Amino acid sequence: MDAFLIKGPVRLAGTVRASGAKNAALPALAASLLTDAPVTLDEVPDLADVRTMAHLLGGMGVSVERPAPGRMVLDASRVTSTEAPYDLVRTMRASILVLGPLLARFGEARVSLPGGCAIGVRPVDLHLMALEAMGARIAVEKGYIHAHVSRVGRATGRLTGTTIRFPTSTVTGTENVLFAAALARGTTVIENAAREPEVADSALLLTRMGARVTGAGTGTITVEGVERLSGTGASPHEIVPDRIEAGTYLAAGAITGGDVTVTHARARDLETFLDALRRAGAGVEATGGAVRVSASRELEAVDIETAPHPGFPTDLQAQFLALMTQAQGTSRLVETIFENRFLHAVELARLGADVRVEGRAAVVRGPARLEGAPVTASDLRASAALVLAGLVAWGETRVRRIYHLDRGYAAMDERLRALGASVERIDG
Ligand code: UD1
Repeated sequence: MDAFLIKGPVRLAGTVRASGAKNAALPALAASLLTDAPVTLDEVPDLADVRTMAHLLGGMGVSVERPAPGRMVLDASRVTSTEAPYDLVRTMRASILVLGPLLARFGEARVSLPGGCAIGVRPVDLHLMALEAMGARIAVEKGYIHAHVSRVGRATGRLTGTTIRFPTSTVTGTENVLFAAALARGTTVIENAAREPEVADSALLLTRMGARVTGAGTGTITVEGVERLSGTGASPHEIVPDRIEAGTYLAAGAITGGDVTVTHARARDLETFLDALRRAGAGVEATGGAVRVSASRELEAVDIETAPHPGFPTDLQAQFLALMTQAQGTSRLVETIFENRFLHAVELARLGADVRVEGRAAVVRGPARLEGAPVTASDLRASAALVLAGLVAWGETRVRRIYHLDRGYAAMDERLRALGASVERIDG
């Protein structure tokens, strides 16, 4: 199993380019199921999760080609199966994103129930509730979601637009309904819709494919269903930049007292995070498609609370916690999205961090002198936090189970090396 061997401490300096967003690429790949015409995507990141989604679609009969780096062409004109099997869904919860498109185009789907993951229970009840409200019949049997829309004579049944009000903001839930609504009969209004930039990107792709969507990126999205969607046509859809990856490299710059510029980054998608970096005393400059962080002076403790977009992203909480171990004073980080998302706290403590978890909050006292040690990654963003800590820890830090990291960060070792870090991928 791969591990990272990091030698610290280092000061990072230089420029790194963010990839297309994992969380926008996964729904975009799933959206290809909505049409029998080719969908061409650019800026598709080279990640384990993207390969898993491509594999899942391939198993359904979708042809997936990668004619050039970052480009993917998906053709779902010959779908032979509407099933998402346990073995794949188990490794990637985002597989649930095929449910809405399959139901909308084929009137049926059989998708393994994702189950929990390290950071919490993460049910999909809201996805199912919404699709049922649109006329789907859903039964959960033997670990599988069986969903179908009643046929009309010999024709495939169609979902019906309605008003869906999500009691909790859900990103993939909103995307599933968006996909389902695009081919439904009539108008669907999604209230308390997730406002994440990746949802807006999915809506943009759908619009390119001929869907009628307004309000994406706000709390109310309206979709007027159409009978069929086209592909992307002559020019590809470009996946939005990955704000979480960008934020992670900016945090790496800040924690090492370095000077790091992330290009292909949209500052407006990262405002709350950049504001927290500024409050911590880091210099942050955003100019036309790039964000630069410079942290020459001592950082100060800052409190944050995760929240749905545009709040502080839960996917940057672990990295920010790592940063706070090096800040002067006591910071309190409250996690409101997932119930068990402080697994990194215990591992960071093994490196010498002073961090205490009290229910949904982590209290960090800094600055702590970190000493290299073997640590184990528990999930994607926790792994990133351990790598950041390794950059400032004295001596060797071995981060084990780096496969979690590879799910969401393309070639992180190479990119960190380019910024001056000593990071090696080893077998361990
Ligand atoms: C997406 C992101 C993930 C991010 C998360 C929150 C993708 C592929 N993944 O995950 O990186 O951490 O948003 O920003 O885009 N919930 C329910 N019932 C449901 C659905 C959700 O109770 O049916 C709860 C969840 O347990 C969680 C909260 O709602 O507490 C938000 O989860 P949600 O936005 O759905 O997360 P994902 O879409 O799975």
